[in-house]
Amino acid sequence: MKTFDEIIPAIKEVLAEKRAELVALNGHRLIINRDLNGYVRILADESLDGDINIQSIVDAIKIKLEGRVPDVMPVLYDDSETIEQSIRQNPHFEIEGYPQVMVVDRTLFESDANKRTDTVATSVPRIVFYSIKGGVGRSTALSAAAWSFAEMGKRVLVLDMDLESPGITSSLLSTERMPMYGIADWLVEDLTDNGNAVIDNIMSLSDLSINGEIWVAPAHGKNVGEYVEKLGRAWMPKVASFEQRTPWYERLNLLIADLEERIHPDVLLIDSRAGIDEISIACLTCLQADTLLLFAMDSAQTWNGYQILFDYWRQHSMASDIREHLQVVGALIPETGRTEYLSNLWEHSWKLFAEKLYDEIPSGANDADAFNFDISDSSAPHAPWLINWNRGFNAQYNHSDIFKQEAIVSLIKSTFNDFVTSLKDVIQWK
Ligand SMILES: Nc1ncnc2c1ncn2[C@@H]1O[C@H](COP(=O)(O)OP(=O)(O)O)[C@@H](O)[C@H]1O
Ligand SMILES: [Mg+2]
Repeated sequence: MKTFDEIIPAIKEVLAEKRAELVALNGHRLIINRDLNGYVRILADESLDGDINIQSIVDAIKIKLEGRVPDVMPVLYDDSETIEQSIRQNPHFEIEGYPQVMVVDRTLFESDANKRTDTVATSVPRIVFYSIKGGVGRSTALSAAAWSFAEMGKRVLVLDMDLESPGITSSLLSTERMPMYGIADWLVEDLTDNGNAVIDNIMSLSDLSINGEIWVAPAHGKNVGEYVEKLGRAWMPKVASFEQRTPWYERLNLLIADLEERIHPDVLLIDSRAGIDEISIACLTCLQADTLLLFAMDSAQTWNGYQILFDYWRQHSMASDIREHLQVVGALIPETGRTEYLSNLWEHSWKLFAEKLYDEIPSGANDADAFNFDISDSSAPHAPWLINWNRGFNAQYNHSDIFKQEAIVSLIKSTFNDFVTSLKDVIQWK
């Protein structure tokens, strides 16, 4: 029985066997399409359809793949625009050493994780708060940052993109202040071009806004409605025709532009979906954010998760672009055994970055342009910003009036002061 994981190694083997013949493709591309079920199909430009020489090479590759991967569909010769479009719209990557062979993946929500196009939004600094696991204090850190920026007089826009596990809203908005709708409603209404029905009622001003303003667009509104049913649709692409498909993150970017136009924030804080899947990865890569905060506790689960994420970015040739935007945040640093814990956290973080994302510098080489950091370099992406676990917190403080109680304000300030200061430094308010 062949499995999904055997597809790429099998393709590499077959290409190596056919390396000499591939030259005859003469710059034409071969696409290896992996469909939603994991079936493989070779696509080639229709102009090659009548070329017996090339056809025999393509057929030979197909025949060699058969038996080595789960199933191979008949070769499809398609027009070049359709082929280019399927590359543009889906996650894709080149097989190393074979620039003329591209793997295209069909995934459920068409979240093209390769798409770090316009890289960074020019309008407003965008910060994504991400973690492999929930319960690491990520939403609380975001609330603390929002509150602190507002105290400086800034206008802050907070988006709860953790639709499957909404959290940020409860600490920033009282029940009375919740808007009628949330981001999930807009994503669903937009699918039928009906976003205008909810757009005026999907954000509210937090009553924690001191000096500045904290605007919050929650995952769902006061009118929760059929939330599970809405979540089953929120991430879908909007399909006007077969050619015209707008994936959810492009739709969301349009929503963000609209919300920014309405309130002119100084900064946008995005609470991402946690874990590793195409939605959470797209929250990191497709929302034009400058700073991607990777919350981490020192556990095997955390580092395994980040390893999968970094490998994915490497496979998709995104590592060198994305690495400059990453910053590890050491979450919930324990009180006991602190020194040893920190030293492990720091070392595990460095090891992973060094192995997966930093450039290797051969000994004796000039390293001026290399993206590489010593383990002890505190300005490096792997060097964790620290947030201490504090016994003063418990679930009951997870309400929107927390910042109104003096004792809690000083607890939050002391817990998040270093974190917020580091964040202010990277934002570099103009
Ligand atoms: N620094 C901290 N020390 C102790 N408990 C914390 C800290 N930050 C958050 N918490 C608590 O941990 C729980 C999870 O926090 P939350 O911010 O919702 O995590 P996440 O967004 O990562 O799921 C909450 O009950 C919160 O009050
Ligand atoms: Mg959360």
